[in-house]
Amino acid sequence: MIRNAFQLFRQHWKLTLATIIVLLIVGVLLVVVSATVWEYTNSTEFCGTTCHTMPPEYAAYKQSPHARVPCVDCHLGQESFLEAFPRKAKEIRHVYYALSKDYEIPIYVRSLRPARETCERCHNPAKFSADSLKKIVHYRPDPENTPREIFLTLKTGGGRRSEGLGRGIHWHIESEVYYLSEDDLHQKIPYVK
Ligand code: HEC
Ligand code: HEC
Repeated sequence: MIRNAFQLFRQHWKLTLATIIVLLIVGVLLVVVSATVWEYTNSTEFCGTTCHTMPPEYAAYKQSPHARVPCVDCHLGQESFLEAFPRKAKEIRHVYYALSKDYEIPIYVRSLRPARETCERCHNPAKFSADSLKKIVHYRPDPENTPREIFLTLKTGGGRRSEGLGRGIHWHIESEVYYLSEDDLHQKIPYVK
């Protein structure tokens, strides 16, 4: 068998070599094209303009503190390609929905990655942040447009409970929170523990 193959190769070595080279080139091209498609479909422009018809989210995003964080960092997670690929492949049905206009506006997120895998990759929950003061100015509808100021103290908090912290707005990171909701969008929450 091996000798036969060897003889065959000797007789047609030019053809065999050409076939191997062509296959190699096609293989390399396939890898380059797939990598480019993967990168492009992960780009912020693709998510914000091409794929979904979501100008409002895109406009808000570009003005946000996260304007340099790619959409996929939060919506797909920051794991390796091997974990991210099947996750994204599952959502390919969105292409069909978008093309056939089979969706309702506003669009809701149904499967955002947990905060541990997204927000907490950049924001360290062990860090305690001091209170911040916010001033909101309203103007009365009188001839002078008299200003009225509201001062709010935001207790950002965070930190570890073992260090006597873990309170404030980020209290939920150190504490287990359970809730029951009555509707799909979790707007009615009759029970919290
Ligand atoms: C810093 C993390 C983060 C980034 C970056 C991000 N998103 Fe989101 N996105 C969220 C969170 C959190 C929600 C709310 C999910 C929920 O309500 O359960 C959300 C909700 C959405 C929704 C649902 C509709 C809505 O307004 O609630 C859409 C659509 C969306 N994002 C699109 C995008 C697009 C497009 C980009 C990039 C241009 C992007 N997001 C970037 C975290 C992010
Ligand atoms: C890839 C990194 C990254 C991820 C992921 C990320 N953030 Fe941020 N976030 C930042 C950076 C950097 C800033 C600071 C931007 C600035 O100060 O201008 C920030 C700022 C913020 C702020 C302060 C906003 C303000 O007005 O000052 C909040 C709140 C916040 N992030 C919440 C979240 C939440 C919630 C998530 C997850 C849904 C998240 N972030 C995911 C990098 C990230």
